[in-house]
Amino acid sequence: MSNGNDRGQWQSRAGFIAAAAGSAIGLGNIWRFPYITGKYGGGAFVLVYIIFLIIVGYPIMNAELILGRKTQKNAVGAFRTLAPGTPWSIVGWMGVAAGFIILSYYSVIGGWGIAYIFKTATYMAKNADHVNIFINFITNPTAPLVWHAVFMAITVGIVMAGVEKGIERYSKFLMPALFIILLILIVRSVTLPGAAEGLAFYLKPDFSKLTAEALLAAMGQVFFSLSLGMGCMITYGSYLSKNEDIPINSIFIVASDTLIALLAGLMIFPAVFAFGMEPGTGPGLTFITVPAVFNAMGTGGAFFGILFFILLVIAALTSAISLLEVVTAYVVDEKKWDRKKAALVVGILIFIVGIPTSLGQGIWSHIRPIRGLDILDSYDFIASNVLLPLGGMLIAIYSGWFWGTEKMREEGNLGAKSIKLGGFFDILIKIISPICIFIIFLNSIGILKV
Ligand code: TRP
Repeated sequence: MSNGNDRGQWQSRAGFIAAAAGSAIGLGNIWRFPYITGKYGGGAFVLVYIIFLIIVGYPIMNAELILGRKTQKNAVGAFRTLAPGTPWSIVGWMGVAAGFIILSYYSVIGGWGIAYIFKTATYMAKNADHVNIFINFITNPTAPLVWHAVFMAITVGIVMAGVEKGIERYSKFLMPALFIILLILIVRSVTLPGAAEGLAFYLKPDFSKLTAEALLAAMGQVFFSLSLGMGCMITYGSYLSKNEDIPINSIFIVASDTLIALLAGLMIFPAVFAFGMEPGTGPGLTFITVPAVFNAMGTGGAFFGILFFILLVIAALTSAISLLEVVTAYVVDEKKWDRKKAALVVGILIFIVGIPTSLGQGIWSHIRPIRGLDILDSYDFIASNVLLPLGGMLIAIYSGWFWGTEKMREEGNLGAKSIKLGGFFDILIKIISPICIFIIFLNSIGILKV
């Protein structure tokens, strides 16, 4: 149903939820959450993550959906409509930039996932050295780039097809299948000999590990995992009809995203310890551990291994399309390009920007732009730990103080049935979440030492 333009609208409630949860649930849950949790020490990190989800993630999820539905615009257009002639549209711009950066490396990892569908089938020999298989693969200068191109091409194809026929239709598939596969893997993982140590690492908080950097990482993970802070949910909210229940939908999106992340940890950590690996290994954790678990399963392993990586790729695709959609919607709305051309041109540019992140695993691994991090981790740091929290803070400040909580609640409560946004929401969006982001942000970039 187009409103006389190329915008589109969700065709059903289930379609919107599937698309929004599909955006939130992705590599952030299955790949990023376990390795970041491993890096920052396990249980205590998980606890802080959950606190930030509630006091920062939930209110900003509502705020973004509300801004989007109110204006029916993309990230930049939403601010231009509500605050014309003011610098607030910079927030939208930052979001477009963040989407660009995130998708460029997200697609590289997504490409690893596609490659692993085939690799899992080939390397199911017992005692295969999964660490070396992984390292040999990602340090290769060309093969991962080919998979990066394949992943980007599929993403562009879906976004070109549009909101209803592309994003909504594809998102409704296979999320339940992902869930079931995860459960099966958890059962295998927690029954491996030596799994208990991993469970203890994951579930027992050790607060001595909670450095300022860990807090920033937890905050960054909340934004990354919920697709917040860059106007992605503004864009998805803009395709939402007025009788949809935003407060409940937000709870559903946050809860399902968190459940999948927690389950991914439950799958990974017992296996990591059972195989005597290091939980802080970094981005390779999922790609090394999961094949090792399947090996240990014996004959059925290859089947589940292949299935797992297919589902990983699907989860990644439904997120990648939301990242591309942010940039595409901006070009379609503001520059009046047609959707197909916009998605294609933007997709090609993002592919190119992603190339260094792939080469940075091998021939360019000496390039360490930020804090000794390689190119991929540096892109991720800038986007997840700087642009997204900053964007989220500005979205909260704008909605709470400038547009005003009264207008927010009026729009947010249209269609709200069981719970309504009230005074508590006002406090979260005006005070608690921006201050919380601000303190952690300053603290971790070392301006303020607490
Ligand atoms: N949330 C997705 C994941 O967990 C990634 C993602 C999609 C994203 N859209 C986003 C991250 C917008 C930040 C902003 O994999």
